[in-house]
Amino acid sequence: MPATENTEITELIADVREQVLYLQELGVETLEFCGELRVENEELKTESREPLQISNLRSEISKPDAISNLRSQVPNIKPANAKPPETKPAGSRLASLPSLSKLSGSGPVRTKVDQGGPIEMENAPIILNTVELPMLPEPTETIEQIRAEIGPDCTRCKLSELGRSKVVNSTGNFNADLMFVGEAPGADEDEQGKPFVGRAGQLLTKIIESIGLTRDDVFIGNINRCRPPGNRAPETDETIACKPYLKREVAVVRPKVIVVLGATAAQNLLETKVPIGKLRGHFHDYLGVKVMPTFHPAYLLRDPHKKREVWEDMKIVRDYLNTQG
Ligand code: URA
Repeated sequence: MPATENTEITELIADVREQVLYLQELGVETLEFCGELRVENEELKTESREPLQISNLRSEISKPDAISNLRSQVPNIKPANAKPPETKPAGSRLASLPSLSKLSGSGPVRTKVDQGGPIEMENAPIILNTVELPMLPEPTETIEQIRAEIGPDCTRCKLSELGRSKVVNSTGNFNADLMFVGEAPGADEDEQGKPFVGRAGQLLTKIIESIGLTRDDVFIGNINRCRPPGNRAPETDETIACKPYLKREVAVVRPKVIVVLGATAAQNLLETKVPIGKLRGHFHDYLGVKVMPTFHPAYLLRDPHKKREVWEDMKIVRDYLNTQG
């Protein structure tokens, strides 16, 4: 199978997996599908009206051969109006595959959630449209220009008045395939003006080395560049002021994967409230970049048993990067 198709199907599986997890979180156990499934002008009648068991679906899509199984089941499904990747408009990408949250139907959709009973969708032809998803902006600047704009004495948020000594900019390889994003600097970082140089940073170095890379190979930053007092989590206004610069840096570096460290950073980057224990272990999306949330190294210092999960996450990242050439 060509690599691009493989990637698209992998993305579909990731998307479906996320939807299934979400449905499970809502307490949905079965999906009863009573309508027609239409792809472009074709009409695919559903072969079976058996309710879909969410738990079965979840285990199916978690199997290593999920890609080939899925492909053999839907050999002819093509996204409507799909264009080859080189024709993608800047600032958006064509989602080749449907998302349950973005389905559009021409008929009335009746959704019934019956105290844990099946969801029914009647008379609802589901059109698998292509959906435009936001993408990273095209880079029009350099990391040095972004740093210069932020300046050494940034006062864009109240952290500048709350005891921060240095603005801690992202560092590392401006061309990196892999980027790490933490929450905000701690005391050591605040003193030295560099991210992840304290004890948690030393553990991060080991995590990077565990997949055969060095700190010079990767790009490391934080959602917030200034230390919050007492190492509290950054507040919303502080994050709103700072995060756009991180986004601009991501647009310049264009990493293939971002590993986001800890619940606060992961929830912030992905704009979700899902706990880190559920976010970790599989890829998410940030403007077209794959994101692997994992536990923060500072948390690992408190609970070393969690290192096993981080190692699992890093292996997924390493294996994905190895497929990217
Ligand atoms: N923790 C973070 O989240 N970032 C740092 O830079 C250091 C510790």
